[in-house]
Amino acid sequence: MTDEERDVRVPASGRAGLIARLARERTLADAELVRLLAPGWSEADEQALFSAAREARERTYGHVVYLRGLIEFTSHCRNDCYYCGLRAGNAHAERYRLDADTILACCEQGYDLGLRTFVLQGGDDPFFSDDRVCAIVAAIKARFADCAVTLSIGEREHASYQAYFDAGADRYLLREETADPVHYRRLHPPELSCEHRKRCLVDLKAIGYQVGCGLMVGSPGQTVADVIADLRFMERLGPHMIGIGPFLPHHDTPFAHEPAGSMADTLHLLGILRLMFPHALLPATTALGTVAADGRRLGLLAGANVIMPNLSPAGVRGKYLLYDGKLCSGAEAAENHAALERVVGSAGCEVVVSRGDYVG
Ligand code: 5AD
Repeated sequence: MTDEERDVRVPASGRAGLIARLARERTLADAELVRLLAPGWSEADEQALFSAAREARERTYGHVVYLRGLIEFTSHCRNDCYYCGLRAGNAHAERYRLDADTILACCEQGYDLGLRTFVLQGGDDPFFSDDRVCAIVAAIKARFADCAVTLSIGEREHASYQAYFDAGADRYLLREETADPVHYRRLHPPELSCEHRKRCLVDLKAIGYQVGCGLMVGSPGQTVADVIADLRFMERLGPHMIGIGPFLPHHDTPFAHEPAGSMADTLHLLGILRLMFPHALLPATTALGTVAADGRRLGLLAGANVIMPNLSPAGVRGKYLLYDGKLCSGAEAAENHAALERVVGSAGCEVVVSRGDYVG
C-alpha cells in the first residue's frame, strides 16, 4: 500500500452504501473500490460485507461447501519466483515426484472419503511431459468417471493445454498472482512475464476449461491499485474459480523477511470477490487456515464455498513447503474428514459428495 492509499478516507456513512451497490451492480468505479478497500474497517462494515457475501453465495449455491482433494504431485520447479519455497534457487527445498500409481492411490483414498474432484498441483516440472500428464489424467478419468480433474501445473503451451483437455482434464488453476506488470516484476524473475501468464488464462478459458485465477493478498509491494488491476482483469476474464490467500514468507526465499499478508485483508477481499462474482467457486485456502486457527471458518463466513483438503501421501506433505508453517494436518488432512465437517458446520454450511461444478 502506498502512503497515499493509506490516507484514503472511508465515507462518514461507512462502507454500507458501497457494499449494497456492489451487491446489486457487481461492480464499482475505481475511486469507489479504492474507498472500499481502504484500511480501517469498522465492525459494522465488516458484518455488512460478510452477510451480503453469504447471501450472494446462498442464492447460487445454498449452504453447500464443495471439497477438492489436493494432490501435490511434484515439488520440482524450474521457476524462481521470489515468494515461493519451491523456487529452483532454493537448494534446501526437498524435492519429490509421485508416480502414476501413487497418484491413483491418493484418488482412491479420496474417493472413499467422498471427494469427487482431484486437483493435481505441482511446480513447473518438465519431467511431467505432455504425454505423462495426459496419461495420468486419462487414468484418473477412466477409473473415476464421476470425478472432475483439475490441473495446476503452471504456464504451458496452448497445444499442451489442449492435449490435457482432450485427455479429460476439466479445470485449470493458474493464479495470475498480480495483474499489474510492474508489480509482477517485483515478484518474479525476468524470464517470466505477466502478459504470458494472463495469455495462458485466456487460452485455458477458450479451450473450455473451468478456469481459476487468483492472487496472494499482501504480497511484497502490493498496492490497492494493484488489487484493483486484478479485479479488472478478472472482470474481463470471467473466471469460474478465484483463489486468494495471504502472502506468507518462506525462510529460504528473497522475501524471507517481508511481512505476511493479513487475514482481515484477505477476508475483506473474499467478501468483495463474492459480490463481484456471485457464481464463482471461492476456496477458503490453506494459507488462510495457516495465518489463523479459524481462518477457514472465517473464510466460509466471508463468502467462500470450497475447501481443498490435502490428499498427498503423508510422507511428502511436509516437503511441499510453499511458505513457512503451511498447514497439512488437522482439518487440512483429507483423512481427517470429521474435523473438516466440524469446521464447515461451524460456519453454517454443509459438505456434500459432488464434483461441485461451476453454476453459471
Ligand atoms: N505465500 C502464500 N502463497 C504462496 N504461494 C506460493 N508461495 C506463497 C507464499 N509464500 C501461492 C501462489 C501459487 C499457489 C500455488 O501458492 O499464489 O499460485
